[in-house]
Amino acid sequence: MDYITLPPSPKSTIQALREIGYTLKTAIADLIDNSITWKAKNIWIEAKWDQENSFISILDDGEGMTEKVLKDAMRPGTKDPDDKRKKDDLGRYSLGLKTASWSQAEKLFVWSKSEKDKIHSLGWDLTEVFKRDEWAVAKNLPDPDEINKLEKQKSGTLIKWENLKKDSVQQHQDNGRAKALYYDLIQELEEYLGMIFHRFIEKQKLKIIINNNEIKAWDPFFASTSLKPSLSPTEEIKFAGEIVRIKGYVLPHKDNFIKDEGSDAYERAGGPNGWLSQQGFYLYRADRLIVSGGWLDMKSGGKKFDNEPQYELARISIDIPNSLDKEWSLDLKKSTAEPPLTLKNKIQDQAIKVREDAKKAFVARGKYGPRPGKEIQQTEERVWNVKHHKDNISYIINKKHPAVNGLASKLGVLSDELESTLKIIEQCVPVQQIWLDSQGEGDHQIPFAGMEKELKKDLLELKNCLLRKHDSATVKKILLGSEPYNRYPSIIDKVMES
Ligand SMILES: Nc1ncnc2c1ncn2[C@@H]1O[C@H](COP(=O)(O)OP(=O)(O)OP(=O)(O)O)[C@@H](O)[C@H]1O
Ligand SMILES: [Mg+2]
Repeated sequence: MDYITLPPSPKSTIQALREIGYTLKTAIADLIDNSITWKAKNIWIEAKWDQENSFISILDDGEGMTEKVLKDAMRPGTKDPDDKRKKDDLGRYSLGLKTASWSQAEKLFVWSKSEKDKIHSLGWDLTEVFKRDEWAVAKNLPDPDEINKLEKQKSGTLIKWENLKKDSVQQHQDNGRAKALYYDLIQELEEYLGMIFHRFIEKQKLKIIINNNEIKAWDPFFASTSLKPSLSPTEEIKFAGEIVRIKGYVLPHKDNFIKDEGSDAYERAGGPNGWLSQQGFYLYRADRLIVSGGWLDMKSGGKKFDNEPQYELARISIDIPNSLDKEWSLDLKKSTAEPPLTLKNKIQDQAIKVREDAKKAFVARGKYGPRPGKEIQQTEERVWNVKHHKDNISYIINKKHPAVNGLASKLGVLSDELESTLKIIEQCVPVQQIWLDSQGEGDHQIPFAGMEKELKKDLLELKNCLLRKHDSATVKKILLGSEPYNRYPSIIDKVMES
């Protein structure tokens, strides 16, 4: 066979590459990957809104590039993605710098300096590339304002994006509004980077400063709070000659959280996308977060694992090395990956377990506010029992509960009427409403909170009723074991003494 060469048109290739789905956040994260790989300890990002003159600059103090390395760096696809890379190299496709930048700006200018070398610069100006329809790279770039900072460093790289995408800088015709929306985007960016690179920031390997603001790490597993999640032991799975580490976490319940750390901390613990979206898997590739929440399209019994409120407390970390990129189908933007088929079952089993435990922790609060304290006896008699039928669930009033039982025996022949009254209550439990309200801001009222007088009166009547059949010690035990009286042992003591 003979072969001919058919090089693609730069214009249409770049136009297509610009649309592979980067956002401002994922694009900047891709550049930070490069800075980290090349040993930067500090990254300074300037993002200033100035209508069409808005720009973003990213300066790092990493090892920088020689003239030759910079040339290779600006060329799309210099290295083979299958080449083995160093363990802490966060790159793979030799495209990130270009594709991430093109997705956000028409101009990508780079100045870089390696130790004992002078500054070299190259730039992509897409207007010029499209005009010529040539892979033409600009050289001898004029010095930008920020060049002094780079000059003062031993080494480092300065990247500047100009002619930013209209969607970022001109989201609104009104300039005031457009500016505000732009800074909202920057705020989102700060939160995102604090999450994606949290391990680097926590280990003090990296500082990211945006517009003079140092970014705080957000740890999905609360290592730095006084509240520790309950953990499953780390599972180490051998796969393709490497180790994949999985660890399940059930986070502390909202009530405990707010009690110990305050409601602001609770909000923050939810994460940049909130509690509901941030449940699920956290996939780390060489310590950099690739997936931050969601259930990786896992299924069980044909049903997809969705993000649901009862699983909000479930988070699972998975750690993979960069040598498993292919097996995990790592995407170009480093924002999605898929578990290899042979690992799916193991990961799924772990997810089922953590979800179950998280659901228990979520429900444990009960429908009536926080749980009673530790000193309180085990609940023997609840007011409501849950009945699982084949296709649905119903809630039944516990006829053995002393208050119900006591009334029934008092009523004698009329107890049938009580039965039918209870039935109507059972049939019409406002389940949906309770569910919706428990997702909202306010907590449900704690039974008898602030109603000591009424409670005492009820308990006294109940005590007298029970004393007809039981001795005093048994009556006390029954009351201490019955919901909701078991929240108030000191009141039971007083009632028993009277
Ligand atoms: N901040 C930086 N400091 C030093 N070298 C850099 C920097 N940014 C880019 N480079 C050089 O440019 C090269 C190309 O970067 P690019 O992001 O395009 O690809 P990559 O990181 O190799 O792979 P990927 O496409 O997966 O990100 C890097 O391999 C590195 O040599
Ligand atoms: Mg890269």
